[in-house]
Amino acid sequence: MSPIDLTTTYLGLQLANPFVAGASPLSDHLDTVRRLEDGGCAAIVLHSLFEEQITQKETGRIRHMDRLDRQFATVVSYFPEPDVYALGPDEYLEHVRRVKAAVTIPVIGSLNGTTAEAWLKFAKLIEQAGADALELNMYEVITDLDQSGAEIEHRLKQVVQDLGAELAIPLAVKLSPFFTAFGNLARSLDQAGAGGLVLFNRFLQPDIDIRHLAVWPRLELSSSDELLLRLRWLAILHGRVKCSLAATGGVATPNDGIKAILAGADAVQMVSAILRHGPSYFTLMRDELRRWMESGGFGNVGDIRGRLSLAKTEDPNAFERAQYIRTISGWSSWLGYQAYTRAHEDDEPTPPS
Ligand SMILES: Cc1cc2nc3c(=O)[nH]c(=O)nc-3n(C[C@H](O)[C@H](O)[C@H](O)COP(=O)(O)O)c2cc1C
Repeated sequence: MSPIDLTTTYLGLQLANPFVAGASPLSDHLDTVRRLEDGGCAAIVLHSLFEEQITQKETGRIRHMDRLDRQFATVVSYFPEPDVYALGPDEYLEHVRRVKAAVTIPVIGSLNGTTAEAWLKFAKLIEQAGADALELNMYEVITDLDQSGAEIEHRLKQVVQDLGAELAIPLAVKLSPFFTAFGNLARSLDQAGAGGLVLFNRFLQPDIDIRHLAVWPRLELSSSDELLLRLRWLAILHGRVKCSLAATGGVATPNDGIKAILAGADAVQMVSAILRHGPSYFTLMRDELRRWMESGGFGNVGDIRGRLSLAKTEDPNAFERAQYIRTISGWSSWLGYQAYTRAHEDDEPTPPS
């Protein structure tokens, strides 16, 4: 029997298998980076360099506000001091060079910001430092009620277009799911030149402390439950955009990884599971994928990628409204059945008709 081929192409880069370390502190130390490669990780996305770090270093301002200006002092104080970041902007570039020299797998730089301003020149500098690709994360919760969805989408598209024209390396865009018509946005970023879409950003959800009447941010590692939203959109987009697709968020087990590929992912990013189990978890992901493919008679990843996507599934309703109606209707009769059995605990239960 011929060996199973786990290779995949993501952002035009040839990967030994689909499993990639997502942007996180996992990439901050060369020792960990080497352990990720030894563990079977196929590519590494570096921890982000933030717009706020860059503007603070270059202009002394964060979001055009001066730390020393008393009227902005409170707002600006919520942003970290420069020494809180693992790496400053110049160190980041040096780190890209060092990581590239330390491993043979592709290294993807990461920029994280919100505006289409001068800080984006770091994209070119990251390319010049040797990154194989760049991931752009425009993480923002829009609290300004005057900003329309159209404006935000236009800005995003413009940034992708501008960076695409400037960079020789591929550009991936890490997105949030909170757009009215996500499919339309995905297609317009594809057309604007994005090499890949990374689905989805996990937003920090601030919680409320009722004892101290305070709001505090919570960062919890993910679980498989979060994968479902990613599966849906991977499945909807697979085969309908020409750029690569990556899953991020909720890939906790080998089965989750297989599901993401079946939905349509070219690459599967992982952070929480690796923080929990360590870099050698990539070996398990890879070996279990191989074992599953072998047992199903699949010879290469291309045989399974997108096999359960909207375009290919025998039941496209699974991703659309019909399934929603069927499921919630089924759920209410199940609840009805439970209430019925509770009320008739001593009787011989028979389901309601
Ligand atoms: C501690 C930590 C740091 C992270 N730092 C970044 C970052 O710098 N840039 C970024 O785009 N995403 C960052 N993320 C998000 C991850 O890349 C990933 O998208 C998210 O954790 C969902 O994947 P998971 O379910 O495998 O954890 C971070 C996540 C964690 C847990």
